[in-house]
Amino acid sequence: MTQIFAHRGYSAKYPENTMLAFREAEKAGAHGIELDVQLSKDGEVVVIHDEKVNRTTNGKGYVQGLTLKELQRLDAGYHMKTIVKKQPIPSLRDVLEWMTTTEVLCNIELKNNVLQYEGMEEKVISLVWEYGLSERVIISSFNHYSLVKSYRIAPEVETAALFGNAVYMPWVYAQSIRARGIHPKYTAYPIEILQKLLENGVAVRPYTVNKEKDMEKFFRINCSSIITDDPVLALKVQKKTSLGK
Ligand code: G3P
Ligand code: CA
Repeated sequence: MTQIFAHRGYSAKYPENTMLAFREAEKAGAHGIELDVQLSKDGEVVVIHDEKVNRTTNGKGYVQGLTLKELQRLDAGYHMKTIVKKQPIPSLRDVLEWMTTTEVLCNIELKNNVLQYEGMEEKVISLVWEYGLSERVIISSFNHYSLVKSYRIAPEVETAALFGNAVYMPWVYAQSIRARGIHPKYTAYPIEILQKLLENGVAVRPYTVNKEKDMEKFFRINCSSIITDDPVLALKVQKKTSLGK
């Protein structure tokens, strides 16, 4: 059965990449959460999508220009402040610690394709090891050199390559970088190529699948997972699709 991963948490309804969005995704029944990580000035792994805090918080500046303490003072729920109270930017440690109280899976996207964060792979993997979560974590990135590096450090942790556009014979490419999964933009490949990937034993998790029609299409081919902003809608569509089989 296709797993449902909540993109930046239950971000259709709650502020993206916050503990609130992750908790609500899990409560709603999502099989997994997807989140983005950057490094703070003092080298901590923090959960935030952009290189700057401007779009998602009430602060300004680069994540790498602020310490963890300074980042934690900001409000990541600022743009939804009429419906939610102050939400701190979580550290990856916060999320992994919470995960140990759940069975949820986690796709950690290394956001090191714009800024090259020295040592990010080692820091993320040592946290995953510390919490004993190697089996429940998938490391993805648009930076495929970083995926190879992660694989060399921790071959037991699944890596998955993110693609905005199609590459030729992605199952061959995946094998060449030792990625067990491919996370393509949901429009990047025709369905036959996705099926070919699945036949070749490569996990396929398209992003970001928010429309019912697209969800149905991926459920019908028994895609490994979909990454969606709205896990509640996805679960509803999944139920409907399986009843219609
Ligand atoms: O991991 C899939 C997706 O999150 C990649 O794009 O920009 O939403 O991080 P973005
Ligand atoms: Ca992401």
